[in-house]
Amino acid sequence: MLLSNLILVLSIIFLPASGSLFKEGSTCIVTPISASPQALVRRSIDTVPSTGRDVDPDQSTGLWDVIDPYKSPAPGTPGALTHFPHPEPGRAHFHARRGLSPFEREVEPLTTRQTPAPVDDTPQILEAFKQCGQDGTIIFREGTYHIRQVMDTTDLRNCSIEIHGTWVWSADNIPYWRQRSFSVTYANRQTAWRLGGRDVSLRGFGKALFDGNGQVWIDLARGQANMDGRPISLTIWKGTNVLIDGIRWQMAQFWHTFVAHSQNVTMTNLEMHTYSKSSQSSVNTDGTNTWNSRDIYIANWTVTSGDDCIAVKGNSTNVHVRNVTCYESGAMVIGSIGSNSWQPDYVENVVFEDIKLNHSSNAAWIKTYPGTGYVRNVTFRNIEFSDVNQPIYVTACIYSYRGCDNSRIPITDIRWENITGTSRYNVAAAMRCSSQAPCDRFSFSNINIRPKNGETAKVLCTNIRNQATMGLTCTGSMPESHPQQLNGNV
Ligand SMILES: *[C@@H]1O[C@H](CO)[C@@H](O)[C@H](O)[C@H]1NC(C)=O
Ligand SMILES: *[C@@H]1O[C@H](CO)[C@@H](O)[C@H](O)[C@H]1NC(C)=O
Ligand SMILES: *[C@@H]1O[C@H](CO)[C@@H](O)[C@H](O)[C@H]1NC(C)=O
Ligand SMILES: *[C@@H]1O[C@H](CO)[C@@H](O)[C@H](O)[C@H]1NC(C)=O
Ligand SMILES: *[C@@H]1O[C@H](CO)[C@@H](O)[C@H](O)[C@H]1NC(C)=O
Ligand SMILES: *[C@@H]1O[C@H](CO)[C@@H](O)[C@H](O)[C@H]1NC(C)=O
Ligand SMILES: *[C@@H]1O[C@H](CO)[C@@H](O)[C@H](O)[C@H]1NC(C)=O
Ligand SMILES: *[C@@H]1O[C@H](CO)[C@@H](O)[C@H](O)[C@H]1NC(C)=O
Repeated sequence: MLLSNLILVLSIIFLPASGSLFKEGSTCIVTPISASPQALVRRSIDTVPSTGRDVDPDQSTGLWDVIDPYKSPAPGTPGALTHFPHPEPGRAHFHARRGLSPFEREVEPLTTRQTPAPVDDTPQILEAFKQCGQDGTIIFREGTYHIRQVMDTTDLRNCSIEIHGTWVWSADNIPYWRQRSFSVTYANRQTAWRLGGRDVSLRGFGKALFDGNGQVWIDLARGQANMDGRPISLTIWKGTNVLIDGIRWQMAQFWHTFVAHSQNVTMTNLEMHTYSKSSQSSVNTDGTNTWNSRDIYIANWTVTSGDDCIAVKGNSTNVHVRNVTCYESGAMVIGSIGSNSWQPDYVENVVFEDIKLNHSSNAAWIKTYPGTGYVRNVTFRNIEFSDVNQPIYVTACIYSYRGCDNSRIPITDIRWENITGTSRYNVAAAMRCSSQAPCDRFSFSNINIRPKNGETAKVLCTNIRNQATMGLTCTGSMPESHPQQLNGNV
């Protein structure tokens, strides 16, 4: 008698730390563990117009405002009040069996409960994907969700995901992330979250915020470009017809996003801000990279990062980037590609347009290793900038600065149109192609790049077949050793 009363009391005490997942028809509604029951009941998704939603709050018979999160589910009902204060794998403290009433849950005796397990919303998030990831809608309500585990949600089909709150990735369990993040194959990099499948939308309505606790990762990496296990925030992995819209990132762990083995991916109205507040630089916090993917549309982004803003990597076809503003970052980049000399990398049909840059390292770059493959049919158009280190740069031997002439990656049919702004030093453009696979059909129009200190701008060119007719006058040649970042005039 006494014991069951104790269990009852403990259940009530621990319930506010439990979050909730509801299923109503094909819609899953998730509330973060950190929300109190009172907040849960009162909270409503009111700022999203019904036209932008898959479930109209007005027609949902009070689903939004009068939810009783602790109502007992019918035994065996999937999704009704699933209870997840689930710690990391291997550290089970507190189990709940689906179908029990909240008052019948198994609670661990108080004596063995040393420190409470950190709040982890990952299990209920994954459960929502499991229950509503096919022909369903998943709504993550406002509040803060704590993510302490990797997420693999690659089997989605006809699924609409709405995020109204803040997702925070933990940084007090770095060894876990370093061991368990999923490989994305490319350059042995890893990711904390893989999202894929068919006909998937992930929308944040300008309210969703992804916080990767990136300063911890930046300080740990100490300027190393690639620290093993430092995870990409979100990877679109084997996705077809995917929309990512209206999400803000702050302090991502590594690259904000990566698009791999995917087709027809639209990423719009995104904001990314990862910039080191310590003495360590925020290297490799790219806005996005695309790889082995086609039909990608990127528009309306604002990015502050210490590294590339938009980078189109090997085997990317039909990429359209529009209206992106980048601060402190590399800007519009093809590459790096060709890093594995035995494996060809193809990039074609890419447009970057309506781009604004402020204090960035570049404006319009193409960088390859001396590998194989090709880069062709790329347009850089309407790019406006201030204080950019080296606005236009093409190299066939990035990072090694050797063996440029061994590259068998021809770079052809490249247009730079309406490129205007100030360069930090006296180089407007530096282009070093391979003698074995020269650049061809380059075209420049409306180029107005002025060194910010008033010097005369240099244009350095080597191995460009149509140099005489390309529309830009070369002032000299570019040695292999010419770096991608300048420290002064050359
Ligand atoms: C997609 O899922 C919704 C439920 O969210 C369903 O009403 C609709 O029929 C599904 N569409 C297809 C093509 O299966
Ligand atoms: C591409 O994906 C979007 C959703 O982002 C979808 O509306 C569109 O129909 C898809 N296009 C094709 C050709 O399937
Ligand atoms: C870009 O933003 C503008 C202004 O907010 C909006 O009108 C337009 O629809 C957005 N474009 C896309 C593709 O979302
Ligand atoms: C460009 O994107 C920004 C958001 O980054 C948005 O505020 C602006 O309205 C967009 N402009 C156009 C012309 O779509
Ligand atoms: C790019 O595609 C080609 C041809 O499909 C393939 O052989 C090559 O391995 C791919 N490259 C990479 C880096 O995946
Ligand atoms: C070049 O790329 C543009 C934009 O993706 C595309 O419209 C055009 O058809 C491509 N040209 C060729 C010759 O493939
Ligand atoms: C560049 O950004 C800085 C900081 O946000 C701002 O003060 C400055 O006015 C910007 N310059 C231009 C030309 O937009
Ligand atoms: C050149 O680009 C700027 C912005 O980058 C834009 O305002 C202007 O309209 C463009 N000019 C032409 C002729 O397209």
